[in-house]
Amino acid sequence: MTTLAIVGAGRGLGAAVARRFAAEGFSVALISRSQEHVDELAKEVGGADCAGYAADVRDPTALTGALDAAARDLGPIEVLQYSPLPHRDFLRPLLDTTVADLTGAVEFSIYGPVTAVRQVLPGMRTLGRGTILFANGGSGARPNPRVAGTSIAFAGEGAYASMLHTELAPENIHVGQLIIPGAITAGDPHTDPDTLAATLWHLHTDRTGFRVFARDLD
Ligand SMILES: NC(=O)c1ccc[n+]([C@@H]2O[C@H](COP(=O)([O-])OP(=O)(O)OC[C@H]3O[C@@H](n4cnc5c(N)ncnc54)[C@H](OP(=O)(O)O)[C@@H]3O)[C@@H](O)[C@H]2O)c1
Repeated sequence: MTTLAIVGAGRGLGAAVARRFAAEGFSVALISRSQEHVDELAKEVGGADCAGYAADVRDPTALTGALDAAARDLGPIEVLQYSPLPHRDFLRPLLDTTVADLTGAVEFSIYGPVTAVRQVLPGMRTLGRGTILFANGGSGARPNPRVAGTSIAFAGEGAYASMLHTELAPENIHVGQLIIPGAITAGDPHTDPDTLAATLWHLHTDRTGFRVFARDLD
């Protein structure tokens, strides 16, 4: 059995993607800052092959340690999803955004993904296949001066992901990005967590294209 690792897993998108991939036969590793939170979530997702690991994505040692432990406990990581919910400090208007706000946003959206990808890549190469999925809000596709930190840092994350898409395709490692404009909303035909989880599942199985949108940008 291989493993889906969700970096930044909570009750919304993370839980829905965990359920979807678990139903398809994957082991699931749930990573967030709180061990209690991911333990609770792992119980809700269910099954012996779902476990929680604590790490802050802004702490590279903790993040690589969590991914390493997940691969040892649950099996090699075939799918990595990077989807922590950005902190509200990263969502300030452009002219209120300080260097300190940007430092956090860059650690969160650029250093975190590079750390996670570099940790799982050797295992994917050994497996001979892999999928790396990024989830971002609308500011990941069109900068929004009301949320400057994510707009700036998501641009870097998107550039990294897009280059990875091209670079890793010959190795049967598919890289995709889901852009979710607006809020994730239960019951919404475009942004219900289960609908988004199905889209991410199809990104993993179809293995074509890089960026998909949950709905049109306004
Ligand atoms: N929610 C929305 O309306 C919305 C809209 C558009 C796009 N998105 C995208 O969708 C994804 C999140 O979906 P969601 O809102 O449904 O989230 P979720 O899966 O319910 O939870 C995400 C989890 O990220 C964890 N997290 C936050 N900061 C972290 C950090 N520094 N290190 C490690 N984990 C961290 C939090 O858990 P802890 O507090 O335990 O760390 C949180 O529970 C993100 O990629 C986001 O950009 C969300």
